[in-house]
Amino acid sequence: MAEDLPNQVLSKLAAADGTLLTSEAFPDLSFVTIKSAIDRLRSREFITAEQLDKIEVTLTKDGEDIAQKGSFGARVFQLVSQMGGLKIKDLPTKTGSATVAKFGQADCFKNKWVKKDGDSLTPLTDHIDDKVQKQLQEISQTKTLKDAAALKEFKKREYASDRKVLDFRIAKGKNFSNEFVKEETDLTAEMLASGAWKTVKLKPYNFKAKGAPTPSGALHPLNKVREEFRDIFFEMGFEEMPTNRFVETGFWNFDALFVPQQHPARDLQDTFYISDPPRADPPRDDPQPSDAPLPTTKHKRSKSKEKVLNYDQYWKDVRAVHQDGKYGSIGYRYPWDPEESLRLVLRTHTTAISTYMLHKLARNPRPARYFSIDRVFRNETVDQTHLAEFHQVEGVIADYGLTLGGLIGFMEIFFGKMGITNLRFKPAYNPYTEPSMEIFSYHEGLKKWVEIGNSGMFRPEMLEPMGLPKDMRIYGWGLSLERPTMIKYGVSNIRELLGHKVDLNFIETNPAVRLDKD
Ligand code: PHE
Repeated sequence: MAEDLPNQVLSKLAAADGTLLTSEAFPDLSFVTIKSAIDRLRSREFITAEQLDKIEVTLTKDGEDIAQKGSFGARVFQLVSQMGGLKIKDLPTKTGSATVAKFGQADCFKNKWVKKDGDSLTPLTDHIDDKVQKQLQEISQTKTLKDAAALKEFKKREYASDRKVLDFRIAKGKNFSNEFVKEETDLTAEMLASGAWKTVKLKPYNFKAKGAPTPSGALHPLNKVREEFRDIFFEMGFEEMPTNRFVETGFWNFDALFVPQQHPARDLQDTFYISDPPRADPPRDDPQPSDAPLPTTKHKRSKSKEKVLNYDQYWKDVRAVHQDGKYGSIGYRYPWDPEESLRLVLRTHTTAISTYMLHKLARNPRPARYFSIDRVFRNETVDQTHLAEFHQVEGVIADYGLTLGGLIGFMEIFFGKMGITNLRFKPAYNPYTEPSMEIFSYHEGLKKWVEIGNSGMFRPEMLEPMGLPKDMRIYGWGLSLERPTMIKYGVSNIRELLGHKVDLNFIETNPAVRLDKD
């Protein structure tokens, strides 16, 4: 039926003698079906078609009901006049509806059709004119009503409402013919063999059709945001730290950072411990100082002056600063257990790597800027915004004469490069930094202050055992990669970003990120 629609349109048009035709001529077909037939005819210039939008008034179910059975007032009047009088309290049962009884009665009084006689109603006339019913019938037939005031009232009472109707004004086109021959889309071997190719009508190519999407690789949104962060770091003179080790010792993840062994972050509930192998070898002295980052041009690294790392001493100094106090610190004063520091963990922060790198830096202390962006693991209850593994963006700056004001200033520049300008700093606590600050930014979209990072100046208890100069100060900060990514791409559930629920289409169609001011 729909297949044949183009021909139906043509024959109606021919019958209408080239004047006008609207889609009302096909009351049983949907607008979409009609439109596709019209589009086919129009594109071959069989017809011209102009799309019209018009407003029609239609009756609601209540309106329909009144148009058929009469207004509420009229229904009440019929009953009263048939019976010559009616008790008011019987109206709801007699009319079959409390609404009809209530509003019908009010209408009857207003129109002076009945009067009240004690507890009954008696008729005042023997014939009434049910104007409401007639007007609704008019709407039903003509899709409009001349009496504008009445129409407004009907809409208010929800007897009638406006409906937008899409219609076409169709007329004969340049190539009009009474028959629309189905066009062939392919020239086949059979057509060539039979000679049918001479007479068949071939469908013209549609050069305006959109091509099928070309499949190609796409970076995951997290990688896009990561690229942006890396560029910012490189632009600010940072070197990337080697983070290719998910498993760390408790020593590098906690002890070297002056995190006491009974700190709650080291509990099984917060940290994943490795069972096989359960412990690492003690750190050995590394005779070849090789994997420290290359020196900056200002401060040439001279091999001869480089101190050789002595883990044995470092190990002892970390123990001393925890257990007994050292470097002017009274320490935590608990028996430090070397076994605990050899337990293997899935690293809970990339600060383990920063610590390792600072320890290497102590061979040849000089101003340095390091960053990393990689995965960390925490034994979290997984929910909308938390996963047991996520990515951290981390930076450290080592230099002489650094101050807290300088850290705040640096943060403003760093986050400013991502378009995050409105910062607030809140005092916080980390075992390895003093002072420490949480960094907040006002999020215009979420209309609230959101925490975007944690930062501080590393403690002497952490730096001095490494052998870094007493007057060297080191900033450190970290943030999650997921949070800015979720905000940037409007993802409210982290499981839409990572894991098996991720929609490939989401990954393929999202544009490269610009952490700009929006
Ligand atoms: N390690 C901290 C965290 O996990 C971030 C941080 C790094 C804080 C360096 C201060 C210094 O949130």
